[in-house]
Amino acid sequence: MKKLFASLTLLLASAGAAYAADNKILVAVFSRADENYSVGIIEKGNTMVLAEMIAEKTGGELFEIKPAKPYPKDYKTTTEIAKREQNENARPALLNDKDISGYDTIFLGYPNWWGDMPMIIYTFLESHDFSGKTVIPFCTHGGSGLSGTEGTLRRRLSKSRLMKGLAMSGTTAQNNRDETRERVNEWLDGLGF
Ligand SMILES: Cc1cc2nc3c(=O)[nH]c(=O)nc-3n(C[C@H](O)[C@H](O)[C@H](O)COP(=O)(O)O)c2cc1C
Repeated sequence: MKKLFASLTLLLASAGAAYAADNKILVAVFSRADENYSVGIIEKGNTMVLAEMIAEKTGGELFEIKPAKPYPKDYKTTTEIAKREQNENARPALLNDKDISGYDTIFLGYPNWWGDMPMIIYTFLESHDFSGKTVIPFCTHGGSGLSGTEGTLRRRLSKSRLMKGLAMSGTTAQNNRDETRERVNEWLDGLGF
């Protein structure tokens, strides 16, 4: 009886581990360097800082979503272009793409742009079949958090399993790597990674 209980416990423990070793993970991220909100001119985008930490901790593969036409280096012009793209419900072309079919879990990272995901994220979403995959959003922002983007993703990816996203201030991500890592790790631990 004792033996049966022990093996049952073991079985349950392994079933309870949220992610098996063969869970293939992709960390897909769009992030913009250069002049940015409240951080000056940066070499690495704020969301990219998070993406690298996530890839490192989960063993996931990092994929940078890049627009065919790069955004300008200055912040203000970028905000104007982004606003126009949002108003026009544009789908900016991808410079590169990734076959996501072999991945079970996709972390999807983006900055909050005008209370939404940058339109290139919509291009990426519509270019792939996310059915049956686990999708986990993360974003950096200047105060608005994830805005409504988790809900938008839930509606758009109705055949995926959406998990709790992470929102982090872009300034924290850029200027306080220790705090950022701590919060990223805490979030990932909570998700079972
Ligand atoms: C085009 C644009 C629009 C933005 N709109 C918002 C916004 O609506 N709310 C917000 O909190 N931050 C906004 N921000 C600030 C960014 O979300 C923040 O700087 C973020 O960390 C940038 O991430 P990245 O360096 O990975 O691109 C905006 C920034 C840009 C460039």
